[in-house]
Amino acid sequence: MQNFDLADYLLQHLNQGGALPQNRQLYRLIRQAILDKILPIHSRLPASRELAREMGIARNTVMYAYEQLIAEGYLHTRKGSGSFVADTLSETLLNPGQKKRSKKTDGDSVPSSSITPPALSKRGNKLVAQAGAAAQQWGAFVPGVPDVSQFPYAVWNKIQSKLWRKPEISSLTYSQGGGLPALRVAIADYLKGARSVVCEPEQIIITNGTHQSIDLCLRLLSDPGDIAWIEDPCYWGARNLLLASGLQLRPIAVDAEGMNPKDEDKKVVQRFIFVTPSHQYPLGMVMSLSRRRSLLEYAAHYGSWIIEDDYDSEFRYKGRPLACLQGMDSAERVLYMGTFSKTMFPGLRLGYLVVPPGLTPAFITGMEELYRSGQETLQACMAEFMRLSYYHAHIRRMRLLYGTRLERLQNEIKRHFPKGEVQATGSDAGLHLTLRLPAHCKDQEIAKAALKQGIASRALSSYFHSTEQAMAGLVLGYASVSEDEIITAFAKLAAVIREHLSMKITANAV
Ligand SMILES: Cc1ncc(COP(=O)(O)O)c(C=O)c1O
Repeated sequence: MQNFDLADYLLQHLNQGGALPQNRQLYRLIRQAILDKILPIHSRLPASRELAREMGIARNTVMYAYEQLIAEGYLHTRKGSGSFVADTLSETLLNPGQKKRSKKTDGDSVPSSSITPPALSKRGNKLVAQAGAAAQQWGAFVPGVPDVSQFPYAVWNKIQSKLWRKPEISSLTYSQGGGLPALRVAIADYLKGARSVVCEPEQIIITNGTHQSIDLCLRLLSDPGDIAWIEDPCYWGARNLLLASGLQLRPIAVDAEGMNPKDEDKKVVQRFIFVTPSHQYPLGMVMSLSRRRSLLEYAAHYGSWIIEDDYDSEFRYKGRPLACLQGMDSAERVLYMGTFSKTMFPGLRLGYLVVPPGLTPAFITGMEELYRSGQETLQACMAEFMRLSYYHAHIRRMRLLYGTRLERLQNEIKRHFPKGEVQATGSDAGLHLTLRLPAHCKDQEIAKAALKQGIASRALSSYFHSTEQAMAGLVLGYASVSEDEIITAFAKLAAVIREHLSMKITANAV
Protein backbone atom coordinates (compact mmCIF):
# COMPACT_ATOMS: atom_id res chain seq x y z
CA MET A 1 0.00 0.00 0.00
CA GLN A 2 2.88 2.33 0.81
CA ASN A 3 4.00 2.47 -2.81
CA PHE A 4 0.50 2.32 -4.20
CA ASP A 5 -0.33 5.42 -6.22
CA LEU A 6 -4.12 5.76 -6.14
CA ALA A 7 -4.19 8.61 -8.69
CA ASP A 8 -2.17 6.57 -11.16
CA TYR A 9 -4.31 3.47 -10.62
CA LEU A 10 -7.52 5.44 -11.12
CA LEU A 11 -6.25 7.20 -14.26
CA GLN A 12 -5.31 3.85 -15.74
CA HIS A 13 -8.80 2.46 -15.21
CA LEU A 14 -10.90 5.56 -15.83
CA ASN A 15 -13.05 5.52 -18.97
CA GLN A 16 -13.04 1.74 -19.15
CA GLY A 17 -16.36 1.76 -17.35
CA GLY A 18 -18.55 2.67 -20.31
CA ALA A 19 -20.28 5.97 -20.71
CA LEU A 20 -20.74 6.54 -16.98
CA PRO A 21 -20.13 10.05 -15.68
CA GLN A 22 -16.65 10.49 -14.24
CA ASN A 23 -17.81 10.83 -10.64
CA ARG A 24 -19.69 7.48 -10.83
CA GLN A 25 -16.69 5.82 -12.42
CA LEU A 26 -14.43 7.10 -9.68
CA TYR A 27 -16.82 5.89 -6.99
CA ARG A 28 -16.98 2.43 -8.57
CA LEU A 29 -13.23 2.17 -9.05
CA ILE A 30 -12.43 3.11 -5.45
CA ARG A 31 -15.16 0.80 -4.16
CA GLN A 32 -13.76 -2.07 -6.22
CA ALA A 33 -10.23 -1.30 -5.01
CA ILE A 34 -11.53 -1.61 -1.42
CA LEU A 35 -13.36 -4.86 -2.18
CA ASP A 36 -10.28 -6.27 -3.89
CA LYS A 37 -8.18 -5.15 -0.89
CA ILE A 38 -5.98 -3.04 -3.12
CA LEU A 39 -6.94 -0.42 -0.58
CA PRO A 40 -6.77 -2.34 2.71
CA ILE A 41 -8.80 -1.66 5.84
CA HIS A 42 -7.58 1.38 7.77
CA SER A 43 -5.65 2.74 4.78
CA ARG A 44 -5.84 6.48 4.37
CA LEU A 45 -7.05 7.99 1.10
CA PRO A 46 -5.47 11.15 -0.30
CA ALA A 47 -7.33 14.37 0.44
CA SER A 48 -9.91 15.12 -2.25
CA ARG A 49 -8.08 18.26 -3.35
CA GLU A 50 -4.79 16.39 -3.67
CA LEU A 51 -6.31 13.48 -5.62
CA ALA A 52 -8.18 15.85 -7.93
CA ARG A 53 -4.98 17.77 -8.66
CA GLU A 54 -2.93 14.65 -9.31
CA MET A 55 -5.57 13.28 -11.67
CA GLY A 56 -6.26 16.60 -13.39
CA ILE A 57 -9.98 16.42 -12.67
CA ALA A 58 -12.47 18.59 -10.78
CA ARG A 59 -12.41 18.33 -6.99
CA ASN A 60 -16.21 18.00 -6.96
CA THR A 61 -15.83 14.75 -8.89
CA VAL A 62 -13.62 13.28 -6.16
CA MET A 63 -15.81 14.69 -3.41
CA TYR A 64 -18.86 13.02 -4.93
CA ALA A 65 -17.13 9.64 -4.94
CA TYR A 66 -15.85 10.03 -1.37
CA GLU A 67 -19.23 11.17 -0.06
CA GLN A 68 -21.00 8.26 -1.70
CA LEU A 69 -18.50 5.78 -0.25
CA ILE A 70 -18.86 7.35 3.20
CA ALA A 71 -22.67 7.14 2.92
CA GLU A 72 -22.40 3.45 2.02
CA GLY A 73 -19.98 2.70 4.84
CA TYR A 74 -16.90 1.92 2.74
CA LEU A 75 -15.04 4.94 4.09
CA HIS A 76 -15.15 6.87 7.29
CA THR A 77 -13.67 10.22 8.17
CA ARG A 78 -11.68 11.29 11.17
CA LYS A 79 -11.85 14.97 11.83
CA GLY A 80 -8.72 16.71 10.69
CA SER A 81 -7.00 13.52 9.53
CA GLY A 82 -8.85 12.51 6.35
CA SER A 83 -10.78 9.58 4.92
CA PHE A 84 -9.98 5.95 5.77
CA VAL A 85 -11.15 2.58 4.53
CA ALA A 86 -13.70 1.50 7.13
CA ASP A 87 -12.86 -1.36 9.47
CA THR A 88 -16.54 -2.20 9.75
CA LEU A 89 -16.86 -3.73 6.28
CA SER A 90 -18.48 -7.10 6.57
CA GLU A 91 -16.64 -10.25 5.56
CA THR A 92 -19.49 -10.83 3.12
CA LEU A 93 -18.44 -7.83 1.13
CA LEU A 94 -14.76 -8.45 1.38
CA ASN A 95 -14.86 -12.21 0.68
CA PRO A 96 -17.68 -12.77 -1.78
CA GLY A 97 -16.39 -16.18 -2.81
CA GLN A 98 -16.47 -17.50 0.77
CA LYS A 99 -20.04 -16.36 1.18
CA LYS A 100 -21.02 -18.23 -1.94
CA ARG A 101 -19.50 -21.49 -0.70
CA SER A 102 -20.76 -21.32 2.84
CA LYS A 103 -24.34 -20.44 2.01
CA LYS A 104 -24.99 -22.83 -0.81
CA THR A 105 -23.68 -26.28 -1.22
CA ASP A 106 -24.71 -26.79 -4.84
CA GLY A 107 -22.29 -24.08 -6.06
CA ASP A 108 -25.12 -22.38 -7.91
CA SER A 109 -25.60 -19.28 -5.83
CA VAL A 110 -26.40 -15.91 -7.34
CA PRO A 111 -23.47 -13.57 -6.84
CA SER A 112 -24.08 -10.23 -5.18
CA SER A 113 -24.88 -7.62 -7.80
CA SER A 114 -22.63 -5.12 -6.05
CA ILE A 115 -19.64 -7.33 -6.86
CA THR A 116 -20.33 -9.14 -10.11
CA PRO A 117 -21.32 -7.05 -13.14
CA PRO A 118 -24.79 -7.91 -14.40
CA ALA A 119 -24.95 -10.34 -17.31
CA LEU A 120 -25.46 -8.21 -20.39
CA SER A 121 -26.79 -9.27 -23.75
CA LYS A 122 -24.34 -9.73 -26.64
CA ARG A 123 -25.41 -6.32 -27.91
CA GLY A 124 -25.03 -4.77 -24.45
CA ASN A 125 -21.59 -6.26 -24.03
CA LYS A 126 -20.48 -4.92 -27.40
CA LEU A 127 -21.74 -1.46 -26.56
CA VAL A 128 -20.08 -1.33 -23.16
CA ALA A 129 -16.81 -2.82 -24.39
CA GLN A 130 -16.52 -0.23 -27.16
CA ALA A 131 -17.72 2.77 -25.11
CA GLY A 132 -16.21 5.97 -26.44
CA ALA A 133 -17.82 8.93 -24.65
CA ALA A 134 -15.19 10.94 -22.80
CA ALA A 135 -15.60 11.65 -19.11
CA GLN A 136 -14.60 15.27 -19.62
CA GLN A 137 -16.82 17.38 -21.87
CA TRP A 138 -15.42 20.86 -21.36
CA GLY A 139 -12.07 22.63 -21.41
CA ALA A 140 -8.83 22.51 -23.39
CA PHE A 141 -8.85 20.60 -25.80
CA VAL A 142 -12.02 18.51 -25.67
CA PRO A 143 -12.95 17.90 -29.32
CA GLY A 144 -16.24 19.01 -30.79
CA VAL A 145 -17.56 21.18 -27.98
CA PRO A 146 -18.78 24.72 -28.80
CA ASP A 147 -18.29 27.62 -26.40
CA VAL A 148 -21.53 27.20 -24.47
CA SER A 149 -20.63 30.14 -22.23
CA GLN A 150 -21.22 32.43 -25.23
CA PHE A 151 -24.75 31.22 -25.79
CA PRO A 152 -27.26 34.13 -25.65
CA TYR A 153 -29.24 32.67 -22.79
CA ALA A 154 -30.93 36.00 -21.97
CA VAL A 155 -32.64 35.90 -25.37
CA TRP A 156 -33.44 32.21 -24.97
CA ASN A 157 -34.89 32.87 -21.54
CA LYS A 158 -37.07 35.68 -22.91
CA ILE A 159 -38.49 33.46 -25.66
CA GLN A 160 -39.00 30.58 -23.29
CA SER A 161 -40.70 32.71 -20.62
CA LYS A 162 -43.08 34.08 -23.20
CA LEU A 163 -43.93 30.58 -24.42
CA TRP A 164 -44.48 29.30 -20.91
CA ARG A 165 -46.81 32.16 -19.99
CA LYS A 166 -49.55 30.39 -21.93
CA PRO A 167 -48.24 27.21 -23.54
CA GLU A 168 -50.18 25.39 -26.22
CA ILE A 169 -51.91 22.49 -24.51
CA SER A 170 -50.81 20.19 -27.34
CA SER A 171 -47.17 21.03 -26.63
CA LEU A 172 -47.48 19.59 -23.13
CA THR A 173 -48.49 16.12 -24.27
CA TYR A 174 -46.61 13.62 -26.46
CA SER A 175 -45.22 14.92 -29.71
CA GLN A 176 -46.55 13.49 -32.92
CA GLY A 177 -45.88 13.73 -36.61
CA GLY A 178 -42.08 14.00 -36.51
CA GLY A 179 -41.88 17.07 -34.30
CA LEU A 180 -43.34 20.55 -33.96
CA PRO A 181 -44.45 21.82 -37.40
CA ALA A 182 -43.03 25.32 -36.78
CA LEU A 183 -39.58 23.88 -36.12
CA ARG A 184 -39.74 21.56 -39.11
CA VAL A 185 -40.55 24.59 -41.29
CA ALA A 186 -37.71 26.63 -39.77
CA ILE A 187 -35.20 23.80 -40.26
CA ALA A 188 -36.28 23.15 -43.85
CA ASP A 189 -35.91 26.88 -44.68
CA TYR A 190 -32.51 26.99 -43.04
CA LEU A 191 -31.22 23.84 -44.74
CA LYS A 192 -32.35 24.93 -48.20
CA GLY A 193 -30.50 28.24 -47.87
CA ALA A 194 -27.43 27.27 -45.90
CA ARG A 195 -26.73 23.67 -46.95
CA SER A 196 -28.51 23.26 -50.33
CA VAL A 197 -30.61 20.44 -48.91
CA VAL A 198 -33.56 19.62 -51.16
CA CYS A 199 -36.48 19.08 -48.81
CA GLU A 200 -39.94 19.96 -47.64
CA PRO A 201 -40.80 20.42 -43.95
CA GLU A 202 -42.70 17.10 -44.04
CA GLN A 203 -39.41 15.27 -44.58
CA ILE A 204 -37.86 16.64 -41.38
CA ILE A 205 -37.91 14.38 -38.33
CA ILE A 206 -36.88 16.09 -35.09
CA THR A 207 -34.74 13.85 -32.89
CA ASN A 208 -32.76 14.41 -29.75
CA GLY A 209 -29.47 14.45 -31.61
CA THR A 210 -27.36 12.51 -34.08
CA HIS A 211 -27.14 9.44 -31.88
CA GLN A 212 -30.91 9.09 -31.87
CA SER A 213 -31.05 9.83 -35.61
CA ILE A 214 -28.60 6.99 -36.29
CA ASP A 215 -30.44 4.67 -33.94
CA LEU A 216 -33.74 5.39 -35.70
CA CYS A 217 -32.19 4.72 -39.13
CA LEU A 218 -30.73 1.44 -37.92
CA ARG A 219 -33.89 0.24 -36.24
CA LEU A 220 -36.01 0.97 -39.29
CA LEU A 221 -33.64 0.09 -42.11
CA SER A 222 -31.21 -2.54 -40.84
CA ASP A 223 -31.19 -6.16 -39.79
CA PRO A 224 -28.39 -7.81 -37.79
CA GLY A 225 -25.64 -8.92 -40.14
CA ASP A 226 -26.23 -6.17 -42.70
CA ILE A 227 -23.03 -4.65 -44.00
CA ALA A 228 -22.12 -0.99 -43.63
CA TRP A 229 -19.28 0.93 -45.18
CA ILE A 230 -17.85 3.24 -42.62
CA GLU A 231 -15.02 5.72 -42.99
CA ASP A 232 -11.66 4.74 -41.54
CA PRO A 233 -11.09 6.69 -39.31
CA CYS A 234 -14.59 7.63 -38.21
CA TYR A 235 -16.73 9.04 -35.43
CA TRP A 236 -16.69 6.61 -32.48
CA GLY A 237 -20.39 7.26 -31.80
CA ALA A 238 -21.51 6.04 -35.24
CA ARG A 239 -19.22 3.00 -35.06
CA ASN A 240 -20.52 1.96 -31.64
CA LEU A 241 -24.17 2.34 -32.58
CA LEU A 242 -23.63 0.23 -35.69
CA LEU A 243 -21.81 -2.48 -33.77
CA ALA A 244 -24.43 -2.52 -31.04
CA SER A 245 -27.10 -3.01 -33.71
CA GLY A 246 -25.31 -6.10 -34.96
CA LEU A 247 -24.11 -4.67 -38.27
CA GLN A 248 -20.93 -5.85 -39.94
CA LEU A 249 -18.58 -2.96 -40.53
CA ARG A 250 -16.47 -2.63 -43.62
CA PRO A 251 -13.94 0.11 -42.91
CA ILE A 252 -13.10 2.14 -46.02
CA ALA A 253 -9.92 4.20 -45.98
CA VAL A 254 -10.15 7.92 -46.64
CA ASP A 255 -7.68 9.91 -48.70
CA ALA A 256 -7.49 13.59 -49.64
CA GLU A 257 -10.81 13.25 -51.53
CA GLY A 258 -12.66 11.46 -48.74
CA MET A 259 -13.98 7.88 -48.55
CA ASN A 260 -12.26 5.80 -51.19
CA PRO A 261 -13.87 2.40 -51.78
CA LYS A 262 -11.82 -0.07 -53.82
CA ASP A 263 -13.22 -2.32 -56.53
CA GLU A 264 -13.21 -5.33 -54.20
CA ASP A 265 -15.25 -3.35 -51.63
CA LYS A 266 -17.84 -2.71 -54.30
CA LYS A 267 -18.27 -6.40 -55.08
CA VAL A 268 -20.25 -6.92 -51.86
CA VAL A 269 -23.57 -5.07 -51.75
CA GLN A 270 -23.72 -2.69 -48.81
CA ARG A 271 -26.89 -1.83 -46.98
CA PHE A 272 -25.42 1.39 -45.56
CA ILE A 273 -22.76 3.94 -46.32
CA PHE A 274 -21.93 6.21 -43.39
CA VAL A 275 -20.13 9.40 -44.41
CA THR A 276 -19.13 12.86 -43.22
CA PRO A 277 -18.59 14.38 -46.70
CA SER A 278 -18.53 18.07 -45.77
CA HIS A 279 -15.86 17.69 -43.09
CA GLN A 280 -14.51 14.19 -42.65
CA TYR A 281 -14.48 13.22 -39.00
CA PRO A 282 -11.87 13.43 -37.59
CA LEU A 283 -9.35 14.15 -40.40
CA GLY A 284 -11.22 17.12 -41.86
CA MET A 285 -11.07 16.72 -45.66
CA VAL A 286 -14.02 17.60 -47.92
CA MET A 287 -15.24 14.80 -50.20
CA SER A 288 -14.55 15.63 -53.84
CA LEU A 289 -17.33 16.03 -56.37
CA SER A 290 -16.33 12.94 -58.33
CA ARG A 291 -16.34 10.75 -55.20
CA ARG A 292 -19.77 12.14 -54.28
CA ARG A 293 -21.09 11.28 -57.72
CA SER A 294 -19.70 7.79 -57.64
CA LEU A 295 -21.11 7.10 -54.15
CA LEU A 296 -24.54 8.30 -55.25
CA GLU A 297 -24.38 6.19 -58.41
CA TYR A 298 -23.35 3.12 -56.42
CA ALA A 299 -26.15 3.64 -53.87
CA ALA A 300 -28.75 4.15 -56.59
CA HIS A 301 -27.60 1.04 -58.46
CA TYR A 302 -27.45 -1.33 -55.46
CA GLY A 303 -30.18 0.22 -53.32
CA SER A 304 -27.83 1.17 -50.45
CA TRP A 305 -28.72 3.88 -47.95
CA ILE A 306 -26.25 6.72 -47.57
CA ILE A 307 -26.33 8.24 -44.09
CA GLU A 308 -24.82 11.71 -44.35
CA ASP A 309 -23.62 13.23 -41.07
CA ASP A 310 -23.36 16.98 -41.59
CA TYR A 311 -22.39 17.78 -38.03
CA ASP A 312 -20.36 21.00 -38.08
CA SER A 313 -20.16 22.54 -41.57
CA GLU A 314 -21.75 25.81 -40.40
CA PHE A 315 -18.29 26.70 -39.17
CA ARG A 316 -16.19 27.05 -42.29
CA TYR A 317 -13.20 29.38 -42.20
CA LYS A 318 -11.77 28.93 -45.68
CA GLY A 319 -13.42 28.64 -49.08
CA ARG A 320 -17.05 27.81 -49.73
CA PRO A 321 -18.36 24.44 -48.68
CA LEU A 322 -19.55 22.05 -51.34
CA ALA A 323 -23.29 21.51 -51.22
CA CYS A 324 -24.32 18.49 -49.19
CA LEU A 325 -24.64 15.03 -50.77
CA GLN A 326 -28.37 14.97 -50.16
CA GLY A 327 -28.82 17.94 -52.50
CA MET A 328 -27.22 15.99 -55.36
CA ASP A 329 -29.26 12.82 -54.84
CA SER A 330 -31.91 12.18 -57.45
CA ALA A 331 -32.62 8.58 -56.44
CA GLU A 332 -33.76 9.19 -52.85
CA ARG A 333 -30.98 7.15 -51.29
CA VAL A 334 -29.61 9.75 -48.85
CA LEU A 335 -30.71 10.32 -45.27
CA TYR A 336 -29.27 13.60 -44.05
CA MET A 337 -28.50 14.16 -40.34
CA GLY A 338 -27.95 17.51 -38.67
CA THR A 339 -27.53 18.57 -35.06
CA PHE A 340 -27.91 21.68 -32.92
CA SER A 341 -25.18 20.38 -30.60
CA LYS A 342 -22.46 22.44 -32.31
CA THR A 343 -24.39 25.55 -33.31
CA MET A 344 -26.35 25.88 -30.04
CA PHE A 345 -25.15 23.64 -27.18
CA PRO A 346 -24.86 19.85 -26.80
CA GLY A 347 -27.05 19.68 -23.70
CA LEU A 348 -29.99 20.95 -25.76
CA ARG A 349 -30.27 17.46 -27.28
CA LEU A 350 -31.96 18.52 -30.49
CA GLY A 351 -31.10 17.27 -33.94
CA TYR A 352 -32.91 16.30 -37.11
CA LEU A 353 -33.08 13.87 -39.96
CA VAL A 354 -34.12 14.68 -43.50
CA VAL A 355 -35.52 11.48 -44.97
CA PRO A 356 -36.61 10.72 -48.54
CA PRO A 357 -40.36 11.30 -48.99
CA GLY A 358 -41.07 7.59 -49.33
CA LEU A 359 -39.63 6.87 -45.87
CA THR A 360 -41.29 9.74 -44.03
CA PRO A 361 -44.42 7.97 -42.69
CA ALA A 362 -42.40 5.03 -41.35
CA PHE A 363 -39.88 7.34 -39.66
CA ILE A 364 -42.63 9.37 -38.00
CA THR A 365 -44.21 6.16 -36.70
CA GLY A 366 -40.78 4.91 -35.60
CA MET A 367 -40.18 8.04 -33.52
CA GLU A 368 -43.56 7.77 -31.86
CA GLU A 369 -43.34 4.06 -31.15
CA LEU A 370 -39.71 3.82 -30.07
CA TYR A 371 -39.16 7.01 -28.14
CA ARG A 372 -42.61 8.42 -27.32
CA SER A 373 -41.28 11.83 -28.30
CA GLY A 374 -42.01 15.09 -26.54
CA GLN A 375 -40.18 18.35 -25.72
CA GLU A 376 -42.49 20.44 -27.89
CA THR A 377 -42.06 23.54 -25.75
CA LEU A 378 -38.32 23.23 -26.27
CA GLN A 379 -38.88 22.77 -29.99
CA ALA A 380 -41.16 25.85 -29.99
CA CYS A 381 -38.40 27.87 -28.36
CA MET A 382 -35.89 26.68 -30.97
CA ALA A 383 -38.33 27.53 -33.78
CA GLU A 384 -38.77 31.07 -32.44
CA PHE A 385 -35.02 31.46 -31.98
CA MET A 386 -34.61 30.60 -35.66
CA ARG A 387 -37.62 32.59 -36.91
CA LEU A 388 -36.35 35.74 -35.20
CA SER A 389 -32.90 35.27 -36.82
CA TYR A 390 -31.06 34.79 -33.52
CA TYR A 391 -29.81 31.44 -34.79
CA HIS A 392 -28.08 32.92 -37.83
CA ALA A 393 -26.67 35.77 -35.76
CA HIS A 394 -25.29 33.37 -33.15
CA ILE A 395 -23.64 31.19 -35.80
CA ARG A 396 -22.06 34.25 -37.46
CA ARG A 397 -20.71 35.48 -34.13
CA MET A 398 -19.36 32.07 -33.15
CA ARG A 399 -17.74 31.55 -36.56
CA LEU A 400 -15.70 34.70 -36.03
CA LEU A 401 -14.78 33.75 -32.49
CA TYR A 402 -13.81 30.18 -33.37
CA GLY A 403 -11.85 31.49 -36.37
CA THR A 404 -9.63 33.58 -34.10
CA ARG A 405 -9.18 30.67 -31.68
CA LEU A 406 -8.23 28.37 -34.52
CA GLU A 407 -5.66 30.88 -35.71
CA ARG A 408 -4.27 31.19 -32.20
CA LEU A 409 -3.91 27.44 -31.86
CA GLN A 410 -2.26 27.17 -35.29
CA ASN A 411 0.19 29.92 -34.30
CA GLU A 412 0.99 28.22 -31.00
CA ILE A 413 1.61 24.94 -32.81
CA LYS A 414 4.04 26.69 -35.18
CA ARG A 415 5.69 28.57 -32.31
CA HIS A 416 6.34 25.43 -30.27
CA PHE A 417 7.25 23.27 -33.25
CA PRO A 418 8.96 25.63 -35.72
CA LYS A 419 10.63 22.75 -37.53
CA GLY A 420 7.27 21.20 -38.40
CA GLU A 421 7.80 18.14 -36.18
CA VAL A 422 4.01 18.02 -35.81
CA GLN A 423 1.45 19.18 -38.38
CA ALA A 424 -2.00 20.67 -37.93
CA THR A 425 -4.45 19.37 -40.54
CA GLY A 426 -8.16 19.41 -41.30
CA SER A 427 -8.66 22.89 -39.97
CA ASP A 428 -10.69 24.59 -42.74
CA ALA A 429 -13.93 23.98 -40.88
CA GLY A 430 -15.49 22.74 -37.67
CA LEU A 431 -14.52 22.92 -34.03
CA HIS A 432 -11.39 20.79 -33.95
CA LEU A 433 -8.14 20.21 -35.79
CA THR A 434 -5.96 17.16 -36.06
CA LEU A 435 -2.39 17.38 -34.91
CA ARG A 436 -0.42 14.75 -36.81
CA LEU A 437 2.52 13.26 -34.93
CA PRO A 438 5.45 11.24 -36.28
CA ALA A 439 4.49 7.59 -36.72
CA HIS A 440 6.62 6.36 -33.81
CA CYS A 441 4.71 8.47 -31.28
CA LYS A 442 2.35 6.60 -28.98
CA ASP A 443 -0.53 9.03 -29.16
CA GLN A 444 -2.66 7.23 -26.56
CA GLU A 445 0.17 7.55 -24.02
CA ILE A 446 0.59 11.21 -24.89
CA ALA A 447 -3.15 11.82 -24.42
CA LYS A 448 -3.01 10.04 -21.04
CA ALA A 449 0.02 12.00 -19.89
CA ALA A 450 -1.60 15.26 -21.00
CA LEU A 451 -4.77 14.41 -19.10
CA LYS A 452 -2.70 14.20 -15.94
CA GLN A 453 -1.82 17.84 -16.59
CA GLY A 454 -5.51 18.68 -17.03
CA ILE A 455 -5.39 18.75 -20.84
CA ALA A 456 -7.99 16.62 -22.59
CA SER A 457 -7.59 15.43 -26.18
CA ARG A 458 -8.31 12.29 -28.14
CA ALA A 459 -5.66 10.07 -29.65
CA LEU A 460 -6.12 10.00 -33.43
CA SER A 461 -5.26 6.28 -33.55
CA SER A 462 -8.33 5.50 -31.42
CA TYR A 463 -10.61 6.53 -34.31
CA PHE A 464 -9.19 3.88 -36.62
CA HIS A 465 -10.59 0.39 -37.04
CA SER A 466 -7.28 -1.39 -37.37
CA THR A 467 -3.96 -0.69 -35.74
CA GLU A 468 -2.12 -1.18 -39.07
CA GLN A 469 -3.95 1.75 -40.67
CA ALA A 470 -3.88 3.93 -37.56
CA MET A 471 -2.10 7.28 -37.76
CA ALA A 472 -0.54 8.90 -34.72
CA GLY A 473 -1.93 12.25 -33.70
CA LEU A 474 -4.18 14.18 -31.39
CA VAL A 475 -7.63 15.54 -32.09
CA LEU A 476 -7.83 18.95 -30.45
CA GLY A 477 -10.98 20.97 -29.93
CA TYR A 478 -10.35 24.69 -29.74
CA ALA A 479 -13.83 26.24 -29.93
CA SER A 480 -14.52 26.20 -26.21
CA VAL A 481 -11.06 27.43 -25.21
CA SER A 482 -10.23 31.12 -24.80
CA GLU A 483 -7.14 32.45 -26.57
CA ASP A 484 -5.29 32.87 -23.26
CA GLU A 485 -6.12 29.34 -22.24
CA ILE A 486 -5.00 28.04 -25.64
CA ILE A 487 -1.58 29.58 -25.00
CA THR A 488 -1.13 28.08 -21.52
CA ALA A 489 -2.77 24.73 -22.28
CA PHE A 490 -0.87 24.20 -25.52
CA ALA A 491 2.44 25.01 -23.77
CA LYS A 492 1.73 22.14 -21.35
CA LEU A 493 0.67 19.83 -24.16
CA ALA A 494 3.72 20.76 -26.23
CA ALA A 495 5.98 19.82 -23.30
CA VAL A 496 4.35 16.38 -23.11
CA ILE A 497 4.65 15.91 -26.88
CA ARG A 498 8.31 16.98 -26.83
CA GLU A 499 9.08 14.43 -24.18
CA HIS A 500 7.59 11.71 -26.38
CA LEU A 501 9.28 12.99 -29.54
CA SER A 502 12.64 12.92 -27.81
CA MET A 503 12.04 9.39 -26.48
CA LYS A 504 12.59 8.10 -30.00
CA ILE A 505 15.65 10.27 -30.52
CA THR A 506 17.15 9.01 -27.24
CA ALA A 507 16.26 5.42 -28.08
CA ASN A 508 17.92 5.75 -31.50
CA ALA A 509 21.01 7.34 -30.03
CA VAL A 510 21.55 4.50 -27.56
C1 LIG B 1 -19.07 13.28 -36.33
C2 LIG B 1 -20.09 13.71 -35.31
N1 LIG B 1 -21.38 13.63 -35.62
C3 LIG B 1 -22.32 14.04 -34.76
C4 LIG B 1 -22.01 14.53 -33.52
C5 LIG B 1 -23.08 15.10 -32.63
O1 LIG B 1 -23.89 14.19 -32.06
P1 LIG B 1 -25.18 14.67 -31.25
O2 LIG B 1 -26.08 15.39 -32.18
O3 LIG B 1 -25.78 13.37 -30.78
O4 LIG B 1 -24.73 15.55 -30.13
C6 LIG B 1 -20.69 14.59 -33.14
C7 LIG B 1 -20.34 15.05 -31.79
O5 LIG B 1 -19.24 15.19 -31.36
C8 LIG B 1 -19.70 14.19 -34.06
O6 LIG B 1 -18.40 14.29 -33.75
